[in-house]
Amino acid sequence: MKDGVYYSDYLQLDKILGAQELESDKANAHAHDEMLFIIIHQSYELWFKQILYEVNSVMEIMAKPAISDSSPDLFKVNHRLNRVVTILTSLVQQIDILETMTSLDFLDFRNMLRPASGFQSIQFKELEAYLGLRMQNRHGKEYYTSQLKPEDKKIIEDVEKTKPLIDLVNDWLERMPFFDKAEYWNNEKSFWSSYAEAYSESLVDAEKNNLSRFETLILGHEKKEEWNLSPRARRAALFILMYRDYPLLQLPYNLLNNLLEIDNTLSAWRFRHINMVHRMIGTRTGTGGSTGKDYLQGALNSHYIFKEFAELTSFMIERHKLPELSTALKQRLGFDI
Ligand code: HEM
Repeated sequence: MKDGVYYSDYLQLDKILGAQELESDKANAHAHDEMLFIIIHQSYELWFKQILYEVNSVMEIMAKPAISDSSPDLFKVNHRLNRVVTILTSLVQQIDILETMTSLDFLDFRNMLRPASGFQSIQFKELEAYLGLRMQNRHGKEYYTSQLKPEDKKIIEDVEKTKPLIDLVNDWLERMPFFDKAEYWNNEKSFWSSYAEAYSESLVDAEKNNLSRFETLILGHEKKEEWNLSPRARRAALFILMYRDYPLLQLPYNLLNNLLEIDNTLSAWRFRHINMVHRMIGTRTGTGGSTGKDYLQGALNSHYIFKEFAELTSFMIERHKLPELSTALKQRLGFDI
């Protein structure tokens, strides 16, 4: 054998593979499926660690005062967010493995786990907080940190004090470089009023209320406390969605799309988890003491983080109705400078 790094030392397998202690064994009542239960949770936590690593690196880039279009920054952001989405997609599928454990198998050791619960997963809560889920928007606020040790509660409170990814994206959108440059706009106001006109004409009678929402959310100037996105940021995001075929807007478009994919895969995981929980414990309360399925359903409904981006599709118009851009702006958005 050659000298150098050794596989099991490098991966510290003694620690990882020595970390499965069955509560049922401690009680001299070996429950076969408890091994699967532990390993699946540990795998989830390892993947959460990787996701947090990627999200934190993305946040570091997005926190720069300016992200240059001609630097690798935006590509890196997309590449890493895309990795997060791929991991989350695989985490949704891993519920299949857990579902090979039946309700009866689970009962063999379930009561030995109280009051532990996935609800105490700090990494999951950190992820939600880093992405932008704030305490005031949580389902069951009082309950949210009540099951945590004080030191773990502090970790979440500290993360909540930092600027989350959604705010960093808001700031980045507000800085969209060409919006304030008169040379690109015959007149910016007239671009948005032409857009509003085309939008208004596209609405059927039952949708007419959308026009006043468009005026407040897109054309407005005030950012309400409860919004994550300012109207200025929404204008930039809508512009990116509508003109995403231009080369310069493709990475920004992918970024917005990746955020929506994160919401999509996280909610798909929540949905699969709820169905699994319902099948596993019916209407019994969770080991963490919540109402179980009902709590989880409330969290699923209200914990979409990037929903304000999803709502922008309400304000899209057909491509052929889009206002014509100035030649200078088309050049800026294309490859020929
Ligand atoms: C037999 C399998 C499982 C059952 C019966 C189950 C049940 C529950 C229940 C009832 C809750 C609500 C809190 C409570 O009262 O305990 C919960 C929350 C949670 N569980 Fe599970 N769970 C299972 C597997 C998993 C796995 C494999 C993970 C992966 C890490 C996980 C992660 C979570 C998370 C992150 C929450 C908090 C969700 C939120 O706040 O929206 N659970 N679980």
